Amino acid sequence: MRHRSPSAIDTTRIQTPAFVIEEDVLRHNLGILKRVKDETGCKMFQALKTWSTWPLFSITKEYLDGTEASSLNEARLGFDEFNHEVHMFAPAYSEREFPEIMNYSSTIIYNSFVQWEKFKPMVDEYARKTGKHIECGLRINPEWMSTDEHGGLWSPCAPGSRLGIRISEFKEALAKDPNALDGISGLHFHIFFDKTFANLKEALGAVEEKFGAYFPQMKWVNFGGGQKMTDDDYDVEGLIRLVNEFQKRYGVTVHMEPGAAIVKNAGVLVATVLDVVNRDDVEFKIAILDMSFNAHMPDFLLSPDLDMPVTGATIVRDEADLKNHAHLYRLAGGTCVSGDQLGHYHAFDRELKPGDKIVMEDAIQYNLVQCTMFNGVQHPDIVLWKNGSGELVRRFSYEDYRARMG
Ligand SMILES: Cc1ncc(COP(=O)(O)O)c(C=O)c1O
Repeated sequence: MRHRSPSAIDTTRIQTPAFVIEEDVLRHNLGILKRVKDETGCKMFQALKTWSTWPLFSITKEYLDGTEASSLNEARLGFDEFNHEVHMFAPAYSEREFPEIMNYSSTIIYNSFVQWEKFKPMVDEYARKTGKHIECGLRINPEWMSTDEHGGLWSPCAPGSRLGIRISEFKEALAKDPNALDGISGLHFHIFFDKTFANLKEALGAVEEKFGAYFPQMKWVNFGGGQKMTDDDYDVEGLIRLVNEFQKRYGVTVHMEPGAAIVKNAGVLVATVLDVVNRDDVEFKIAILDMSFNAHMPDFLLSPDLDMPVTGATIVRDEADLKNHAHLYRLAGGTCVSGDQLGHYHAFDRELKPGDKIVMEDAIQYNLVQCTMFNGVQHPDIVLWKNGSGELVRRFSYEDYRARMG
């Protein structure tokens, strides 16, 4: 099956608020990633920052090689719940946490030569003491930025970004110490979000032009995440060809760290309308839901240009068009924050009433992992939809809230 099937979740049977993950769609996405692996020999790691519902790692580990972690906690979660192939990257490591990070990581990637030089003796000593060899890598920054990066907010290569070593810095470090790459097995870049195969080809050109000379001395090159590999119109065959050619050209193994592609359209957030507020100074009504945008979907507040698709509604952004819709709503959350709402509007085909269910589509990526219990709001349930019914993975309680407050 090449195309994703439409969602089969029966939301009338879901208690809200709830994140509902659909196993069939999740497996569909993972099947595409596995195909890329199988036809290239590349390695794929689940980016835990995007989605880390560990009780479902039993599914993802059927398809992927391991995890990509960005903190000590994520590294430990990957190690304990997925497998021992944990690829760690953080912009900087602390001396206090580093010994534990080594316990859980199979690969550690550094954001600067300064960090690499600082922690190299600890990695060597750890290998001597434990016999465990941790591979080390460096994150590079090709200074290539696509044009649609939400004002640079999500672009690791925006001017002034703290992420990755630039080519001028790379050359300077090697001029100072020609052995600076001794002990480095790979180079890593993560340069965009939600991009097509055409974007990857263009970006890779920039990466190769600047850093290609160093690839033959590496064991692996990590392409990071940010690819819409599981979208119906993504050129998977093109990616397979590109990875095969790249690996042959440089004699390396390609690593990838998909996050969003794993859960793309594989889950929804179901909420219930609690009240509808009608103000005579605006052209829309406000539906207050039993969830919160700043507690459960903070990216939509950080970047109001992100669209939230809702079942049975179309997105309206043009202020001049607001009066043309009979049932136009702004979806809002239940905290005290006046900005706890989406930046755009939804035109429904019917009037919304308290008790109506609202289904926010493609709601898993970067939302579940960022949820807070701000204002003491109820954390949405986590539900797995499989074989025509919902299985409760986790319901959060007052004790969960209390435990985080003191
Ligand atoms: C280093 C790194 N790898 C992988 C990812 C996953 O990216 P995505 O979820 O867009 O695939 C991210 C996301 O920020 C990242 O920073």
